Amino acid sequence: MTYSKMEVKTSLLDNMIGVGDMVLLEPLSEDSFLENLKKRFDHNEIYTYIGSVVISLNPYRSLPIYTPDKVEEYRNRNFYELSPHIYALADEAYRSLRDQDKDQCILITGESGAGKTEASKLVMSYVAAVCGKGQEVNKVKEQLLQSNPVLEAFGNAKTVRNDNSSRFGKYMDIEFDFKGDPLGGVISNYLLEKSRVVKQPRGERNFHIFYQLLSGASDDMLKKLKLERDFSKYNYLSLDSATVSGLDDAANFRTVRNAMQIVGFMEDEMQSVLELVAAVLKLGNLDFKPESRCNGMDESRVKDKNDLKEMCELLGIEQSVLERAFSYRTVEAKMEKVSTTLNVAQAYYARDALAKNLYSRLFSWLVTRINESIRAQAKTRHKVMGVLDIYGFEIFEDNSFEQFIINYCNEKLQQIFIELTLREEQEEYVREGIEWTNIEYFNNAVICDLIENNQNGILAMLDEECLRPGTVTDETFLDKLNTICAEHQHFESRLNKNSKFLNDHSLPHNCFRIQHYAGKVLYRVEGFVDKNNDLLYRDLSQAMYKANHSLIKQLFPEGNPAKVNLKRPPTAGFQFRASVGTLMGNLQTKNPNYIRCIKPNDKKAAHIFTDSLVRHQVRYLGLMENVRVRRAGYAFRQAYEPCLERYKMLCKNTWPHWKGPARQGVEVLMTDLQVPAEEFAYGRSKIFIRNPRTLFFLEEKRKQCLEDLATLIQKIYRGWKCRSHFLLLKKSEIVVAAWYRRYAVRLLSKLSSILPPELKYQKKCEEAVTTIAAFWHGTQARRELRKLKEEARNKHAVSVIWAGWQGTKARRELRRLKEEARRKHAVAVIWAYWQGLKVRREYRKFFRANAGRKIYNFTIQRIMQKYFLGLKSNLPSMSPIDKSWPARPYSFLEGVHAELRRIFHLWRCKKYRSQFTEEKKAVYEEKLEASELFKDKKALYPSSVSQTFKGDYLEMVKNPKYQKLSSAIDEKILLADVVNKINRANGKSSPRLFLLTKKSVILADQKTGQVKTSLPLPDLSSVSTSTQSDGFFALKLKEGSSSAVKGDFLLSSDHLIEIVTKLHRISSLAADREKLNVDISDEFLVQFKQDKVCVKFIQGSPKNGNSVSCKRKNNRLLEVSVPTSP
Ligand SMILES: Nc1ncnc2c1ncn2[C@@H]1O[C@H](COP(=O)(O)OP(=O)(O)OP(=O)(O)O)[C@@H](O)[C@H]1O
Ligand SMILES: [Mg+2]
Repeated sequence: MTYSKMEVKTSLLDNMIGVGDMVLLEPLSEDSFLENLKKRFDHNEIYTYIGSVVISLNPYRSLPIYTPDKVEEYRNRNFYELSPHIYALADEAYRSLRDQDKDQCILITGESGAGKTEASKLVMSYVAAVCGKGQEVNKVKEQLLQSNPVLEAFGNAKTVRNDNSSRFGKYMDIEFDFKGDPLGGVISNYLLEKSRVVKQPRGERNFHIFYQLLSGASDDMLKKLKLERDFSKYNYLSLDSATVSGLDDAANFRTVRNAMQIVGFMEDEMQSVLELVAAVLKLGNLDFKPESRCNGMDESRVKDKNDLKEMCELLGIEQSVLERAFSYRTVEAKMEKVSTTLNVAQAYYARDALAKNLYSRLFSWLVTRINESIRAQAKTRHKVMGVLDIYGFEIFEDNSFEQFIINYCNEKLQQIFIELTLREEQEEYVREGIEWTNIEYFNNAVICDLIENNQNGILAMLDEECLRPGTVTDETFLDKLNTICAEHQHFESRLNKNSKFLNDHSLPHNCFRIQHYAGKVLYRVEGFVDKNNDLLYRDLSQAMYKANHSLIKQLFPEGNPAKVNLKRPPTAGFQFRASVGTLMGNLQTKNPNYIRCIKPNDKKAAHIFTDSLVRHQVRYLGLMENVRVRRAGYAFRQAYEPCLERYKMLCKNTWPHWKGPARQGVEVLMTDLQVPAEEFAYGRSKIFIRNPRTLFFLEEKRKQCLEDLATLIQKIYRGWKCRSHFLLLKKSEIVVAAWYRRYAVRLLSKLSSILPPELKYQKKCEEAVTTIAAFWHGTQARRELRKLKEEARNKHAVSVIWAGWQGTKARRELRRLKEEARRKHAVAVIWAYWQGLKVRREYRKFFRANAGRKIYNFTIQRIMQKYFLGLKSNLPSMSPIDKSWPARPYSFLEGVHAELRRIFHLWRCKKYRSQFTEEKKAVYEEKLEASELFKDKKALYPSSVSQTFKGDYLEMVKNPKYQKLSSAIDEKILLADVVNKINRANGKSSPRLFLLTKKSVILADQKTGQVKTSLPLPDLSSVSTSTQSDGFFALKLKEGSSSAVKGDFLLSSDHLIEIVTKLHRISSLAADREKLNVDISDEFLVQFKQDKVCVKFIQGSPKNGNSVSCKRKNNRLLEVSVPTSP
């Protein structure tokens, strides 16, 4: 299989002419059926399906549809994958046999000339082509195929209907091994039309072999067979159509001999067969004359004994014995032999009976002999494919016993056709789990019963008549039928008690009519008894047995005197009924495949479609009924995988790929397409579609979709092609230009010196041309690029619009969902309220008047209790700076909740405070005071918060250095530190010991510890500091006090905050004094002796570094520059 074949999934539905499957016919009527057949026939589509049944129309010309390529095309493909073909059926049957181990039978029916034999040969050749290969296998195949020409030569004849009409029924079982390789076969033959041997209707011929032998045999061989080449020399050969156009008897004779050799016939066997054929021709030339006997009766005598002699020589028969057998007949009864004479008519009858028997027995022997050759050798279990090519329904003007038998056979075939198709249909529904609805159909079992019933069937009564003593004629047989079958609704006769037909002139008195499933057929009873008896006088069979010819002896075993059998041989009807019974039993065990052949015209001509003729065949083959049965359930079915593969482009979810199981994909597809649920059913492995129109709907959509897709693909492809072409051109252009330039430069440099002026001019022109071309190409390329860009822009725009649209859709959907959720919530709340209201209303009557109040109080209590308990277990930590507080559970508790928080905080603070010692308390009080004084007023303050107010930084008591100083002070020293005293004249500073007691501030020399100044606290009027982060402070003295003479002090300390706080505290604790003022300002005055000097604090510039510097600016200004606090 080629790659493309694997890739492209096709279907019966592709490029269909009319409909490929009649089941899809819409509307379904006989006219539309015929119209469809004709349309397809006119387009050389000779095969059409009815489900799995193949209708085949005879094209009467060779079509190119049987080539080895076709065989490959249909090989291993599914039945509905390609357009209808006999190969599809053969392939399906063969694969089902090989892979599923199911025995198959291929039933080919149709009237004479419809193409059954050709169809059977096509099936066989297809199977031979696709099954295994190898020397042994090929030999088997060849033998099986070559059995056809042999049997056709002996069993086929030209008739008015068909130049190669099979005059026998044939069923061939081909046997295969487990691998599907052929092992051999068995052929069964049915009812050869032996009457043709002695007499042919006008315009028809005897069996082909007679003509082939006379035309094709060498002179030598003819001489050996004592024959002449001239057909007209033989009575049994009709002359009016001895040569048939298009039929080369001589060539065919060679083919037949060759085929016989391949099948395995020995030379002497072939010779014997031809001797028998010659003997039959000779027999036909025997003539009889009457010879009066003494008893007054006429006795027949052979007229010209030459033919008799030659015949006896050919067959090794004693001439006198045969001669006698044509004049006398011995009847044996109860051990007695009675000899009676034969008259001329009886002699002719005996001659013809012998000829017919000889030929038909020869034919049966041929079949047996072929079977011996082709029989499978191995004893292992075989798989079997049966091919049945049997005569179709026949309705002639004059119908006799043969037609009756043939039509009976067809009646039986129709019955198993109905049974098996329905059974198969039903089994498929069960297999697929689809509900089965019973289908109404005409069951022809009642007609089969009319013919074959053991007690009162027509065949049984014919046998009864034949075996009955007394005078038996065709009329007595008809009488019997009239009495016994009178009531049967499918039996009609003029003499019937049923008065309905008394005046029916279309029904002659010597006839009866049967309403077959395929139509009414009028049978003339004449010859029924005789043909059923099929008698050959014993004298003749004994004469044959005595022959010195091995083949003849074998053919007439009943002529053996040692095996005299008084019992009559079984009648023809009985034998046929038995073999048809066996055949039907055999077919029923196999999986049937039907080929229904139709003859399009009576002229054996191509291109002619005779409407009425086809209509008739469609009717009697029951094809409409076949379609109806098939459509009664579901018209179309398809496995999920191919179905999804075919229609996946119709749904966004399945295109281009469906990830899940095929069945789910198909379900999604059908839902998306909104196909009504009653239009299809999901089976286990297939989808079943009820109406053809649903399928056509899918097909129509698919077609549209494919067109769109094709346009899209085309568009993309064209774009791609143009672009790649353009890029290639561009690339090439660059390369060519580069090469050219290089070449040109080189050439120019070479030529410029030697070029004559006209060449220079030409070169310039050439250069100009190149330049123009380059420009032109450039323009073209730019234009192309613009186009491509425009295309890309458009594509981008489309995707943006698409995304925008998707976004809008999504947002809308989200809005809708939110709204829905809101509504749902609202509904739930309203519902709860409503329920509450209802419940309250319902139970209100059970409460006393004040119950509501109590419940309310109780509820409130419970809530409060719960609230308090909850709060208790959920209290924040005891740290006063912890800001957390549990959330309020009920809004009505808002006030309480906040108040509780406040109370809790106060309590927590109180608890915290209660842990303090007196000292610690004092420390905190001091800190508090510092905060009141400086917080948010002086930049230095925040850094002091974390420092403990140590007070005695110098450790006055312990340090021996200061012992003298401390002992000189009788008060408790509250603070001792080193400060800087600012020199008022130049702003320079010098260190001093600063001591604070309850009563005074003492400044002493740092080194010597000598007291320099002692300022009683009451003399202090205020302390001034800046707002900045410096440690400067001025101690201002009250005017008029004793200390005032020295002027105010300007100091600086690292512990400014502590010093000022302590000063302020002492003053505020002393009851007898005013509070010390603390001024915080960046500009204040200090008294220096007589002068007042302004101390001004400014932000230091970076050049001053990080330290505070103090400078006397002039008489009235001392400037302190403070670095910006980090
Ligand atoms: N598929 C075909 N392609 C070409 N010609 C065909 C095809 N089928 C049948 N024919 C022609 O029609 C003729 C009659 O076909 P065939 O012998 O198969 O008919 P039949 O149904 O077997 O008739 P019968 O019942 O008389 O034996 C063939 O000899 C052949 O010329
Ligand atoms: Mg045939």
